[in-house]
Amino acid sequence: MANSMLALVIALAVLGHAVQAADYNYSKVLELSLLFYEAQRSGKLPEDNRIPWRGDSALDDRGQRGEDLTGGYYDAGDFVKFGFTMASTTTLLAWGYLSYKDAYESAGQAKYGLAAIKWAADYFIKCHVSPMELYGQVGDFTLDHKFWGRPEDLNMSRPAYKIDVQHPGSDLAGETAAALAAVSLVFKGVDNDYSAKCLQHAKQLYSFANQYRGLYHEAIKGAAQFYESTDYGDELTWAAAWLYKATGESQYLDEAEHHYMKFRLKERPNEFFYNKKVAGVQILLAQLTKQPEYMDAAQAFCDFTVDYQKRTPKGLVYIDKYGTLCHAANVAFVCLQAADVGISPKKYQDFARQQINYMLGDGGHSYVVGFGKNYPKQPHHAASSCPLQPASCGWEEFYRQGPNKQILYGALVSGPDENDHYRDVREEYVYNEVTLDYNAGFQSAVAGLRHFQLQEINYNKT
Ligand SMILES: *[C@@H]1O[C@H](CO)[C@@H](O)[C@H](O)[C@H]1NC(C)=O
Ligand SMILES: *[C@@H]1O[C@H](CO)[C@@H](O)[C@H](O)[C@H]1NC(C)=O
Repeated sequence: MANSMLALVIALAVLGHAVQAADYNYSKVLELSLLFYEAQRSGKLPEDNRIPWRGDSALDDRGQRGEDLTGGYYDAGDFVKFGFTMASTTTLLAWGYLSYKDAYESAGQAKYGLAAIKWAADYFIKCHVSPMELYGQVGDFTLDHKFWGRPEDLNMSRPAYKIDVQHPGSDLAGETAAALAAVSLVFKGVDNDYSAKCLQHAKQLYSFANQYRGLYHEAIKGAAQFYESTDYGDELTWAAAWLYKATGESQYLDEAEHHYMKFRLKERPNEFFYNKKVAGVQILLAQLTKQPEYMDAAQAFCDFTVDYQKRTPKGLVYIDKYGTLCHAANVAFVCLQAADVGISPKKYQDFARQQINYMLGDGGHSYVVGFGKNYPKQPHHAASSCPLQPASCGWEEFYRQGPNKQILYGALVSGPDENDHYRDVREEYVYNEVTLDYNAGFQSAVAGLRHFQLQEINYNKT
């Protein structure tokens, strides 16, 4: 009996090992995703730029009083710099880095992970031109979308839009506060002055968000069509919770809990993305307080997602046709966070691995540019569609059939439809859009999966 049990255990261990070996190289995927962010950089590039087809661009980006707004990231395949999603991207990247630093380190990517986060934070600090004034967009979508080409060749006017006391935006200011609070934690012990600077901006931005309530797209009108925010209660709570995590000051926890009640955030959401952060709020509060109310909410969201959310025939969670994979990666990431507080760890880790592995090849091919089998060759991305300079680049590259001229390593495309059907065609942005926001939860989930692999390796050693 004992012997056969032992044999079974060994057989299972061997089987487990074989399954492990067939896994994708998450370290490689982390490395590539960071290259995608590097390709999205705006402004003056540093000497160590690793993207050979990118150079300095948009060096004249200025605020309404001439403030320097160079830097930051282009939002997608176009060239608007868009504060709301750049901030939510940064919060998710910072959360993943904080939780799974060992994954970045073991992949040799810690330096690049920090650089990717700092590139955004530096820009938010520039945009925060006075305590209650924050630029939230540079570039006009209509003007920008008349252009297809390289960012280095941009020559249209790029107006800058802001929120202030008369035109508040609690969502934008709140999300930027959350991002900078998370970044301050990332840089604690790495660069303490920078960490303190980020925290100070985060506190001011949260006060602004909290004192002057409003929706940012009423101040920045062009944003409504692209990145609407339908509520700001989630961002206010999110910002206060992140500030509590960064400072340990109970006043922020009190405010987070107050907002949570007032804005009725305990209801189970259906998704987790830039316009609906409730699931992230619930899980972060569960981590910070271990209170049953938040633990139960976190479990309700993840159990719903794993057990009842709509799926494609091949098992991808299907929440929306725009950013199908981003939605799945985001829920994979927050449920890994729920696993970290001890809620159904095995169930949520298996779920996250299944979702991410679908994106890396289990769904029939890879949805990450430059990785694995049959990856997307025509992402909807102007800069990478261009030939190398000095050849000209314009709309002919948009309409040209065939792969983009440059490989946009690491970009996760929008993804398949509800039947796992996908078309790799540049014009079809429903399938092939790439954005800052699509990669963020994905990169952090991949770091999480690598973290659990490393834990398992260490456990097996002891
Ligand atoms: C995974 O990718 C990393 C980074 O490219 C590489 O150094 C490593 O050797 C790869 N691991 C395996 C098992 O192939
Ligand atoms: C911008 O570039 C386009 C294409 O090269 C050119 O036709 C146009 O005149 C330029 N506009 C300005 C304002 O320089």
